Amino acid sequence: MATVSMGEGDRRLSNMGNGMERSRILTIAASVRAMIARGEEVAPFTVGDFSPEQFEVPNELLTGIVDAVTKGETNYPPAAGLPELRESLAQWMKHKYEVDVGSDGIIVGSGARPVLYASFRLFLEPGDGLAHGVPAWNNHYYVHLNDAVDIPIPGTQESRFLPTAKAIEQRIKEIRVLILNSPLNPTGTCFTSDELSAICKVILAENRIRENEGRKPVMLVYDQVYSTMTAEHIEHVHPVQVCPEICDYTITLDAISKSLTGTGLRLGWMALPPALAPPVVALIGHMGAWPARPIQKAAAKLYAQPEVLEEYFVDLDQRIADRMSVLQERLGKLSEYGVSYVQPEGGIYLSTRFDLFQRLGVKTNEEIRKWLLESAGVAIVPFQAFGLEEETGWFRISIGAVSVSEIIAAMDRLESALRTAFDCEPLS
Ligand SMILES: Cc1ncc(COP(=O)(O)O)c(C=O)c1O
Repeated sequence: MATVSMGEGDRRLSNMGNGMERSRILTIAASVRAMIARGEEVAPFTVGDFSPEQFEVPNELLTGIVDAVTKGETNYPPAAGLPELRESLAQWMKHKYEVDVGSDGIIVGSGARPVLYASFRLFLEPGDGLAHGVPAWNNHYYVHLNDAVDIPIPGTQESRFLPTAKAIEQRIKEIRVLILNSPLNPTGTCFTSDELSAICKVILAENRIRENEGRKPVMLVYDQVYSTMTAEHIEHVHPVQVCPEICDYTITLDAISKSLTGTGLRLGWMALPPALAPPVVALIGHMGAWPARPIQKAAAKLYAQPEVLEEYFVDLDQRIADRMSVLQERLGKLSEYGVSYVQPEGGIYLSTRFDLFQRLGVKTNEEIRKWLLESAGVAIVPFQAFGLEEETGWFRISIGAVSVSEIIAAMDRLESALRTAFDCEPLS
């Protein structure tokens, strides 16, 4: 057999294939699953998924799917999505976020990922700048897939880990596509109207210059897959609500994966200026990345009933808040051990810091992660998995797969492990 492996990979693969990186989050999650299967007591705070026992999708969606299958809705849907689904999503985007692109500006895909991939693929040439906040979810993989130039815009604890207008402005000349995500995975923080408006102004000012010079504009990809999940007193904001002129340069991504907790049902969509839709439809069609027809039928019906959705979201927010409040209360009591967190504002994540470097005599987040897993059965993901390479002790906690009682048990184990290891007085 011919030799196929080279120093830098496998000769049978393209450079892109050889450079493909496995998701770090999924690697950690797989090892946690193996521990749970062995009977070990571990709280799976790792994946951004929902356990169906804890979070159910709306009943109307399930009955709609069954109904559609029973009626024989099993053939190909149109590549852009069923017309009735595009229409109800267009109405929803207008009603909820003031994004008015009509049904021609809505294209569905099998989850947010295909439409996310399509939005990068159709705007970026090899060598173009793809800017994203850090920490953030998965952007570095898309940089690689598109042969783009990576422009990380690091957030800080002061900016609630969100990229600021000032930091974006410093790199704006190099940017062709800017992706923003709010509520942010992994930090659970959200842009305010002022923060978002300042970023839009930076983009529009640059685009005016580029227009005069006949150069391609900066495009904004706004990933709002957690938009319906917000903490009390927090409003999700869409860029067009604070800066209507940004609409011509904005592609919005959304999905039922998070908002309806249906990660496995695979329905996402993109809202964009209708004139840009035809190549997206063609790409989704070539990939065959459309959602199954029964789920499209069911979602079309559900999104035509905003009141049913709103009721579901109120209940879901409460279940998230129940989990977040236990976490905050318990982590807040561990500050003497170097534990802190950022107030969660949206999504299913909480940013927490375990500043255990000196106490454990270690240098990396990975060593702290392993200690927490092995000593307390607390499985969390370091910010390195989201592109923030500094060893600062920051981690993501995800609450989608845990009950309130599992969180309480995990916090009991954590408290006891910290006490035993660091020989402190019992906490009051
Ligand atoms: C910010 C963000 N965008 C997009 C996605 C992808 O969603 P989907 O499962 O619908 O492809 C995720 C999934 O975790 C996410 O966190």
